Amino acid sequence: MNRIHFLNQLATSECPYNFGAGVPPLDQYPAFDPGYFYRVFLEEFPNKPVLHYHQSEGCLGEISQRVFQKDGFSEAKGGIITNGVQESITVAALLFKNACVACTDPYYPGFVDAVKMTGNKPFFIDGEHWLESLESLNPGSLFYLSADFANPTGKRLSLSEREQLVEIARRWDFYIFDDATYRPFFLDTPLPSLVSLAPERVFHALSFSKLLSPGLRIAMTHVPDKFLAAFTALKANISLNSSGFTQAIVGGWLLQNGLSLSAHLKEFKGTMMRKKQFLQNQGIEFEGGFFAIMEIKGRILDFEWCSKLLEMEGVAVCPMNLFSDTSSFNHKIRIAVAKTSVKNLEEGFMKMHKFVL
Ligand SMILES: Cc1ncc(COP(=O)(O)O)c(C=O)c1O
Repeated sequence: MNRIHFLNQLATSECPYNFGAGVPPLDQYPAFDPGYFYRVFLEEFPNKPVLHYHQSEGCLGEISQRVFQKDGFSEAKGGIITNGVQESITVAALLFKNACVACTDPYYPGFVDAVKMTGNKPFFIDGEHWLESLESLNPGSLFYLSADFANPTGKRLSLSEREQLVEIARRWDFYIFDDATYRPFFLDTPLPSLVSLAPERVFHALSFSKLLSPGLRIAMTHVPDKFLAAFTALKANISLNSSGFTQAIVGGWLLQNGLSLSAHLKEFKGTMMRKKQFLQNQGIEFEGGFFAIMEIKGRILDFEWCSKLLEMEGVAVCPMNLFSDTSSFNHKIRIAVAKTSVKNLEEGFMKMHKFVL
């Protein structure tokens, strides 16, 4: 079974303790009526060509600018609309197909597979000393990461790491793609985005898949001025436009929600705080987002181990080595904690402990 097949299967699995799939818990968000938000948008922007082909940038330029500004990126201009962050990643991979393209290990497979698809070979940065290792990048390279709650590690960069990263990027003249898919899922206060620190160096891709619905296939990307024309042309070559229908739905939803990406997540985050407390009691770090890492020393936690755990205890998890080409993460698993209830998380952990013993 390949990686995509395995992850797709987990996404739709009905197993009682599904900590494998990083799917958003839509049932825990406020009710979402797409038709209503579509009409809200058209009342505000009656002349937007949502039923037609339209400019490749999309129909949400003005709204995306205000969304980025509200998130602390004061110099924001309008973003480019894509079919999810995945299309934005693909466009960036094509844009840099003749350059060095790097990411940390373990990696987000959607990025690495897109880079390989362009005929390029991703360069893996050592996870532990990643900031120092970036100094080996050639000028004009692209470094992909998620500054906020990465998939699969769940890690968030500290303020000091953010400042050092943009300083190193300026000094060594490389660019950054910040995949901000999980940025709205902070549990304390948000840290400044990389793009707000260096708009001329950072692609900032914001997805509506996790915070609203993956079925919309809408994301907004801030693209540095230097790459704007080329990025837009590639987007047009891949898919012409993103759907005007779903852009209008996202636009109407944003207008109704005061352009906030996280105000509607208040109740959900209350539950996540309880999960955070439970995870911390288990000795597992968790700051926000959807993922945490669990390590069991002395055990090889591979596909086979995870399949047995699923078969015997009904607990689904992902082996961390699914997200690496090395065997460095053989003792770790990725636990997706957003969708499960607190009770199921506690029960699932008891079952895992029993299985390990
Ligand atoms: C880090 C990361 N980036 C991008 C995506 C895909 O986002 P989208 O649905 O916006 O294409 C995912 C989905 O799991 C993800 O985890």
